[in-house]
Amino acid sequence: MREINNIVILTGAGISAESGVATFRGPDGLWEGHRVEDVATPEAFARDPDLVQKFYDERREKLAGVAPNAAHRALAKLDRLWSGELLLVTQNVDDLHDRAGSERLVHMHGELRSAWCSRCGERSKFEGKLAFDPACPRCDEFGGLRPDIVWFGEMPYHMDKIEAALARCDLFVSIGTSGAVYPAAGFVRTAGHYGARTLEMNLDPSEGSIYFNESQMGKAGELVPAWVEGLLKT
Ligand code: APR
Repeated sequence: MREINNIVILTGAGISAESGVATFRGPDGLWEGHRVEDVATPEAFARDPDLVQKFYDERREKLAGVAPNAAHRALAKLDRLWSGELLLVTQNVDDLHDRAGSERLVHMHGELRSAWCSRCGERSKFEGKLAFDPACPRCDEFGGLRPDIVWFGEMPYHMDKIEAALARCDLFVSIGTSGAVYPAAGFVRTAGHYGARTLEMNLDPSEGSIYFNESQMGKAGELVPAWVEGLLKT
């Protein structure tokens, strides 16, 4: 088997579930009581900006009451101690990987604690409520800020960096994602195409489960620390 130097890790909502952050595709198909199309598309924002701003304001406010769990901490430890290349790609818009201490990290679907101004095009760190229609911290204009979230139909962030890392990695690991949303759902096949070993850790088999060399089913808070400790011993 190829020696492991370069690692790409993809995480989804399942890694934050044990911290108390709701996953997107619950058993009722709703995300915190809303259909995804009603809160996570540019069309929804154009139709009802107040509903969408309030929805993300609530998610942002809830971040204050949650904390990183053992899985986030284990990945931060791996980032600190792994001397090869490592890229943690999260689909999550919470900041639990950041708070756990991961540094080689990209948020491909944006961040709750960031706002994007349509007037000046700049992104800024943001706390508080966008529904109050605050001025942009960069250009001082009112009425332009929206959540810095990649909605359905929009291009995810950092794709060049992610594609380059996938082409170079020896191991691709997917944690806590249903594999329902592209392009992230396709990363396993890209990495596999370039010869990487592929591993998934999830509560139940993801939609792309058959594409992984190995699947471990269980809670991220238990599986991820055990996997990290094993990897650091090799
Ligand atoms: N440990 C591991 N996996 C878990 C846990 C847990 N404790 N709890 C839930 N899961 C798994 C579920 O079984 C499910 O397969 O996490 C997965 C979460 O899937 P989704 O809710 O679909 O979340 P995700 O895959 O991150 O969604 C992708 O969809 O709505 C968009 O942009 C949004 O980034 C999001 C994207």
